[in-house]
Amino acid sequence: MKNDKLIVAIDGPAGSGKSTVTHLLAHKLGYVHIDTGALYRAVALRAKESGVSFDDPVGLGKIAAASKLEFQWLDDDRNHVFLDGRNVSLLIRTPEISMAASKISAYPEVRDALLGLQRRMGGQGGVVLEGRDIGTVVFPNAHAKFFLTASVDSRARRRAVELEEKGVYLDFEEVKKQVIERDRGDTERKVAPLRKAADAIEVDTTQMTIEQVVAKLVGIVQGKMQKS
Ligand code: DC
Repeated sequence: MKNDKLIVAIDGPAGSGKSTVTHLLAHKLGYVHIDTGALYRAVALRAKESGVSFDDPVGLGKIAAASKLEFQWLDDDRNHVFLDGRNVSLLIRTPEISMAASKISAYPEVRDALLGLQRRMGGQGGVVLEGRDIGTVVFPNAHAKFFLTASVDSRARRRAVELEEKGVYLDFEEVKKQVIERDRGDTERKVAPLRKAADAIEVDTTQMTIEQVVAKLVGIVQGKMQKS
């Protein structure tokens, strides 16, 4: 029987085009977009606001477990993240929170607290989840798995543009340094490191337009729908 409510996993490093691609892919399929990085970012923000150190795994785990994290679709056609009822979608996009989210995401206490939540959010299907460990840990049985990559320079360039759109102007070399540093942290951590699932389709987006990437992924997902 044709299953049109698949679980689609998109993993990859910062700046690989994941967020834009996931947004457009979810839109084309009529699926919900779940940005799991926003959950780690929201926990980092709550920790900062509560004065809990980014070096305190137990305290951070408690914050992650106690925070009410939800997504809500708003008029701008985006899934916004709410932390204890407050829309924090913009507050979590600063370079400081990016680095903090990467740091706290290495702690098992934090990852464990967010794992069940992500599974509940995506378990019904009809979702595209983006993150670092969706295809390997959160949904190892996802119907379609993608791993997006791109050269460091092109990822740093995309990151710089994204930040500029939010009014944050940083030197390109500084953005590149942060991208490399975050990659290292995300790839080298012991728990659920960033890596391609064995059965994920790798797509190098360096020389592709966003439209080309989305078209490729839509074709593959639709093919899987026919088969499942
Ligand atoms: O996707 P992003 O850049 O918004 O994610 C912020 C950080 O959260 C990222 O550096 C690593 C962490 N993260 C994670 O460990 N696992 C995920 N599934 C998503 C994000």
